[in-house]
Amino acid sequence: MSGVGQQSAQKTFYLETFGCQMNVHDSEKVVGTLVQEGYRRVESVEQADLILYNTCSIRDKAEQKVFHRLADYKKLEAQGKKFGVLGCVAQQEGEKIFERAPHVSLVCGSASYTKLPEMLVQLERAPLAAGNSEDRASGFDLPASGSRTADAGSLVRITGLDDRQTEKCFETEFTARTNPHRGYITIIEGCDKFCAYCVVPFTRGKERSRTSESVLAEARQMADLGYTEIQLLGQNVNSYRDLSGKKSFAELLAAVGEIAGVRRVRFTTSHPRDFGRDIVEAIDAVPTLCDHVHLPVQSGSTRVLDAMQRLYTRDQYLERIGWMQGAKREISITTDVIVGFPGETEQDFRETLSLLDEVGYDGVFSFKYSARPNTPALTLEDAIPEEEKSRRLEELMARQREIQIARYKKYIGTQYEVMVEGYNEARSQWIGRTSQNKTLNFTVESGADPRVGAYVPVLVTRSFPNSLVGEMSSLGQ
Ligand code: SAH
Ligand code: SF4
Ligand code: F3S
Repeated sequence: MSGVGQQSAQKTFYLETFGCQMNVHDSEKVVGTLVQEGYRRVESVEQADLILYNTCSIRDKAEQKVFHRLADYKKLEAQGKKFGVLGCVAQQEGEKIFERAPHVSLVCGSASYTKLPEMLVQLERAPLAAGNSEDRASGFDLPASGSRTADAGSLVRITGLDDRQTEKCFETEFTARTNPHRGYITIIEGCDKFCAYCVVPFTRGKERSRTSESVLAEARQMADLGYTEIQLLGQNVNSYRDLSGKKSFAELLAAVGEIAGVRRVRFTTSHPRDFGRDIVEAIDAVPTLCDHVHLPVQSGSTRVLDAMQRLYTRDQYLERIGWMQGAKREISITTDVIVGFPGETEQDFRETLSLLDEVGYDGVFSFKYSARPNTPALTLEDAIPEEEKSRRLEELMARQREIQIARYKKYIGTQYEVMVEGYNEARSQWIGRTSQNKTLNFTVESGADPRVGAYVPVLVTRSFPNSLVGEMSSLGQ
């Protein structure tokens, strides 16, 4: 867009993203917004004028990462670089970040991204963020929400900390998607569930949905640009409520799946409480809706589910699994599990293990419970010792590994259509993904040259606990 001479005068930024798909997609929107404001993205901290971290706070380890990064690069402040913290840690910690890392000038939660352009202007006008934490802690009385600059002498602190009052979603026409074949669309932001262990309702604000018109317009636009796979995002997509009252979540799914050019539609994350049978019916009716559902269970014990405030029992969860197992296509099911929630007994844990056997998941993301600020579970007694959490996690992972070895073996000899995602030089294999969201790496007959983004048939020849290997079928592309 501009010549080399102009580029060197252009403001530059570096952005690193932590956390879930929502954060990854937010970053695509933030990048688009910054580029629109005249910034150019660079790939290293050293090259950047502005260094941004889009952060995650779901577990303590995730939160610590940003403070390590900020400490690592503090020395660069002397070179005139400015630092900003975005995302869930920004919203959770707010102005406390200025105290922990005085070289930070901008703290902005996801509910305030619409104000980023004006904050960037404030940041550019502002002098560098020098000063010590004591100066910062005194003298300012910033509001709990809204954006403003506090600037006295050399102190610069720009905050965007809108929280649960927010009604708006962050929509922009400038989203800078990183993959030209598959892309995310946010359909609902925030969360109103308040599970006892979870920071998300505090870091992402209250649930707010986009209209189905706006979602469909974005999906059509992506299809026109050549995207064939669309992934609908929300912390809880099943709570989607079309404000115009026109479409349920299942109807929205079907409508996206029927757009010309769209070959695959995925959605994440589903909450069991709101997961309706109509979603399974939509998957049955619309072939482009992928045969994969991620349905986090968290625990197999109704007693623990109750303490977690998950709003369903083990039996209700299994009822939903039954709906999926009765679908016309085999639906691949994956889940999230937390071990060592306060008060989880050995018997409760055994119930989680037996649930794994009963459901037969194709993938489980398992985590040790991590106590988080503001959450109701903080006040619970009977914390589980760290070593015991680790033991449970290991046992669970070992059990699930056995389940996956047996499940993935069954696919040998079956042919699947995969979307080509890339080429692994080290293994001399193409990387593919099935509609069920499984990795299916493959080799091709000499002469065949699959294109990244193409859909090709692959015959499964070998299986591993987490992936499949096959050969591109001679039927070709
Ligand atoms: N909205 C989704 C997932 C949100 S976070 C849902 O409702 O399921 C992704 C996963 O992180 C959760 O499913 C949960 O398994 C895990 N998680 C959330 N808070 C956690 C905590 N405090 N400690 C450990 N794991 C946690
Ligand atoms: Fe967190 Fe529960 Fe909301 Fe998921 S549904 S984001 S686990 S509060
Ligand atoms: Fe992390 Fe925030 Fe996502 S806490 S998991 S980045 S919603």
